[in-house]
Amino acid sequence: MVTLRIARFNPEDDKGAYWDTFEVPTLPTDRLLNLLLYAKGYLDGTLTFRRSCAHGVCGSDAMRVNGLNRLACKLLMKDMLPKDGKPVTITVEPLKALPVLKDLVVDMEPFFDAHRAIKPYLINSGHEPTRERIQSAHDRARFDDTTKCILCACCTSSCPVYWNEGSYFGPAAFVNAHRFIFDSRDEGAAERLDILNDVDGVWRCRTTFNCTESCPRGIKITQAIAEVKRALLFAR
Ligand code: FES
Repeated sequence: MVTLRIARFNPEDDKGAYWDTFEVPTLPTDRLLNLLLYAKGYLDGTLTFRRSCAHGVCGSDAMRVNGLNRLACKLLMKDMLPKDGKPVTITVEPLKALPVLKDLVVDMEPFFDAHRAIKPYLINSGHEPTRERIQSAHDRARFDDTTKCILCACCTSSCPVYWNEGSYFGPAAFVNAHRFIFDSRDEGAAERLDILNDVDGVWRCRTTFNCTESCPRGIKITQAIAEVKRALLFAR
């Protein structure tokens, strides 16, 4: 058995925020998401969290687990259970710095506002092509790492600058800007770099590496941010 200690909050009652605990059976092959589904299915149907794909693709079940941002569907219990079989408590909280709507569900709109601000789409002034835009394997490889982002917000909500300054674009926005700035088919790099040069842009990054450590896709986020900073320096 594992004890789940879960941060609860329901805007429709007057209890405010509080901790709730659930005793849940587990196997080393379970993922944290299995335990949450058990708690909701058998112990308390009001427990609220997001999840969809259950395979680390949609990014909807990002949460803080023992203080670190993780996807519940990727966190294997064998990595959480002590080898000596002693009882264990796992603390689960909503992502930090985003408004909590209910229990483990946060409002993602501020996160997506920053995402939209960096124009995360191909900008090209030419005529619409009648066939795909050709790109060499070498040019495609230039931004391959940053195409892996699933917009889970693990990186942005682990960033201490974002905790203090919600207006800061945050690492996920920079990752998605990088994905287009270095795409040889795109013509919007100057426009995006101008946006990222803003007071809420890349220069506020303090290189703490929290983003890189929390990314469930293994994206080298701090390196991507450094590449955007370098592009800004050479663009001027
Ligand atoms: S449920 Fe889709 S990433 Fe975890």
